[in-house]
Amino acid sequence: MTEPLDVTALLSELSLAEKAALCTGEDFWNSVGIARDGQVLVPAVMLTDGPHGVRKQAEDADHVDLEGSVPATCFPPAVALGSSWDPELVHRVGVALGEESRAERVGVLLGPGINIKRSPLCGRNFEYLSEDPLISGVLGAALVRGIQSQGIAASVKHFAVNNQETDRMRVSAEVDARALQEIYLPAFHRIITEADPWTVMCSYNRINGVYASENSWLLIDLLRGQWNYPGLVMSDWGAVRDRVASLRAGLDLQMPGGGARPVDAVIDAVTAGRLDPADLDRAVERLLRLLNQVLPAVTQGGSYDVDAHHALAREVATDCAVLLKNEQDLLPLDPANAGAIAVIGELARTPRYQGAGSSLVSPTRLDVPLAEIERTVSGSNTVTFAAGYPIDETGDAEALLAEAVVAAQGADTVLLFVGLPPAAEEEGFDRTHLDLPADQLALIDAVAAYNDRVVVVLSNGSAVALDGWQDQVSAVLEGWLLGQAGGGAIADLLFGLAAPSGRLTETIPRRLADTPSYLNFPGEQGQVRYGEGIFVGYRYYDARQLEVSYPFGHGLSYTSFDYRDLRTTVTGAGDELAVEVSVTVSNTGQRDGKEVVQVYLGQPGSYLQRPARELKGFAKVALAAGEATEVTIRLTAPDFRYFHPGKDRWVLQGGDFTVAVGSSSRDLRLHAGITVDGEYVGPELTADAPFEDWLADPIGGPLLLKAISKDGPFDVAADRMMLPTPLRVIANFPGAPITPEELDALVVAANG
Ligand code: BGC
Repeated sequence: MTEPLDVTALLSELSLAEKAALCTGEDFWNSVGIARDGQVLVPAVMLTDGPHGVRKQAEDADHVDLEGSVPATCFPPAVALGSSWDPELVHRVGVALGEESRAERVGVLLGPGINIKRSPLCGRNFEYLSEDPLISGVLGAALVRGIQSQGIAASVKHFAVNNQETDRMRVSAEVDARALQEIYLPAFHRIITEADPWTVMCSYNRINGVYASENSWLLIDLLRGQWNYPGLVMSDWGAVRDRVASLRAGLDLQMPGGGARPVDAVIDAVTAGRLDPADLDRAVERLLRLLNQVLPAVTQGGSYDVDAHHALAREVATDCAVLLKNEQDLLPLDPANAGAIAVIGELARTPRYQGAGSSLVSPTRLDVPLAEIERTVSGSNTVTFAAGYPIDETGDAEALLAEAVVAAQGADTVLLFVGLPPAAEEEGFDRTHLDLPADQLALIDAVAAYNDRVVVVLSNGSAVALDGWQDQVSAVLEGWLLGQAGGGAIADLLFGLAAPSGRLTETIPRRLADTPSYLNFPGEQGQVRYGEGIFVGYRYYDARQLEVSYPFGHGLSYTSFDYRDLRTTVTGAGDELAVEVSVTVSNTGQRDGKEVVQVYLGQPGSYLQRPARELKGFAKVALAAGEATEVTIRLTAPDFRYFHPGKDRWVLQGGDFTVAVGSSSRDLRLHAGITVDGEYVGPELTADAPFEDWLADPIGGPLLLKAISKDGPFDVAADRMMLPTPLRVIANFPGAPITPEELDALVVAANG
């Protein structure tokens, strides 16, 4: 076991040049080590991607050389992991990722990615968990805790407001304060305060004009000041433009490194008095503390059980796939009585199980759905295969389609694998539409014309349009990208060896034109305006009362669940508010299953506009057929607050809230109303505020009425036009009931 570094001693011992060197990487994947006279003073540490597997490249490989990393378990990417709605399961994945990192002597695993899915077009949505900040934060925290339980640092990325790939290294996300606080930052905040990630990675983009890597509001005022974050902030790879400016703004470690220029720039800036040496010392101190956190595990190393991790990847994948539709309970199929099964679609033979880019893992092995289905079906039942379409530009689409039609005609049931080909979604690019490739759409039409028992299995890293084809098929299993063991998980689900329990963490819209960011994605001329504000995902579809293909939270199982006895208990007020929401859930079907109980809050009378409902709590419960259980979800003050941009702080406005509990954001089974104590929130009382705002205020209203009733009672109703008129305008009228001087005194008194 290595001795911990003596941080205080090192800070006084290290030279300016050594300190400057430490704050930039050694190369693509390692931090700088410092040795003197053959003695290691500060060891180096390796950082690698992340997030759903360890992508450790050869020492000399660069960033763009994405192939050829050491074998590692490819767990389901975030798009799938999110759909599990299961923090315990996600924690286990984190533990496994930590073990593999340790075995590879990697000190920092670059993940999780927790950016909000603002548009289904974002090319990197497969690396992100949800359109909702609560689920992103809860599952992100579980992953971080798991990874770090093994002595390996997680790196929560990409901080912040990195929601598209188009122009990602430059674009300015123009986002208002409320959307920032309520949608784009809470997952980071939750993870930082609940899971203590040892590192955070800042994003490439600008936020309201300022690069994240140089954004002192983001990295110092908010992260350090308000959130008390003690860990290290590193840059995304290449996100630093000006090393000195970034250090000053709180960016501790620039990655990658490899050149003398940034180091010299820091030395020069300190020498010339342009950079406070304390800024440099703070960054070095955080790096040294990180080394103390990870070096014991990295030095010790370890090994992991490849088979057990593969089995875990399969278990997790099984809980991530989402059964969207299952007419006449076509699924599950009986493996002993399935008849003639036609498996159609190249994706059944050449699975897509992860996305392309920096997260690309070399899997330890790969389960192929077709082989797993063949293995599962028993007795005299048969499985035939037809590719149906080419997965890339090569291949004779027409001939493949004709062959698939023949297979469909002769089959009792068709298992039709369609989805996005690898080139359709990857890091660095956004999609431009939501459709499946045209040859796959033609295949669905053709197959469905000859067989009325068609089950579609989807492989895609982000929502695709289902409108126009899903009515022709009986069942749809959204398989997302399920990781290296997804093939086995799909076979288990189709044949009932496991029950589907995944739920959507992103809405599946009917059309691209319905999506919240449609008019503002991906922006132009270096800017993207977040015009939909807080109305992201289901918050938007609900506000617009738009039909969607499948709502946020949706997912079927092979059984049914009943909800009854909703009870709410409110205790405390303001910051001490606590609300318990209890409900009894029973499995009313014939099979075991898992239900995700979701609790949504709304505040119809809030002073500032709020979404009709927002997810504030959830619990995944396993129930055997016939079993019932009471589920209790605890809400606290932050769940009730909204961000008030005028006051520049969160407010808990007292009043009535709606509590809705159910199986999806649009399958709400039980409702209750509660009243909570909180602050009064109303218009600001200034001299320029209108008469009616003053009247409505519990303090300002009586004060105003008293002031203007000096010469007898003032009849407000007599002059409606007065109501929207600013008090200052009224005070300036000849013969007004209040003078400008009295008004100034009134403003002071009302704001006491
Ligand atoms: C990605 C990060 C990744 C890093 C290192 C960047 O391009 O945005 O998510 O961790 O490269 O590969």
